Amino acid sequence: MDVLEAIAARRSVRKYKKGAAVPKEDIEKMLDAAMRAPSAVNSRPWEFYCSDKEEVKSALMAVHPSCRMLETASWVIAVCARPDLQPGRGFWQQDCGAAIENILLAAKNLGYGTCWCGCYPAQPRADEVQKVLACASVPIALIAVGVPDEEPSAKGFYDSERVHFI
Ligand SMILES: Cc1cc2nc3c(=O)[nH]c(=O)nc-3n(C[C@H](O)[C@H](O)[C@H](O)COP(=O)(O)O)c2cc1C
Repeated sequence: MDVLEAIAARRSVRKYKKGAAVPKEDIEKMLDAAMRAPSAVNSRPWEFYCSDKEEVKSALMAVHPSCRMLETASWVIAVCARPDLQPGRGFWQQDCGAAIENILLAAKNLGYGTCWCGCYPAQPRADEVQKVLACASVPIALIAVGVPDEEPSAKGFYDSERVHFI
């Protein structure tokens, strides 16, 4: 699957085959893709908390209002920002967004489904997620990862009215 195929085929998946094996090595491939994302002054202002434990996924579901799909997902990857690694600049949200998208596309390429569940700047969920993870970094998103048990059809949203060739 080339990158344009992965982009075209990716959809948010909210139902997974519960208990399906997703090897840690595949999660590491997704994280490698994440850490290859561009970032302002190459500061790479991120860190990742990953878990396949039911108690961790349940605790996150309890504080995040729209990540119920973690109930069937095999893993959760929390992408957290480290603004301290980018002093004086405010690009860390964009940098983490690029890392998140790389995870979604790498997962698609590996045959998995994902769903991006936003945290920061929504409050109180970002603070609550931070407490569950016991981290000092800023939770930007939880990503559900699993073997899809639904197949949302691919669709494009190309809108020529939003495009301006100058
Ligand atoms: C910043 C951001 C936050 C999102 N938060 C959630 C969320 O909390 N729960 C959820 O189910 N989907 C969430 N989504 C997924 C969007 O609903 C989804 O990407 C959008 O409806 C388009 O559908 P698609 O991903 O299938 O193309 C989020 C997406 C983004 C980019």
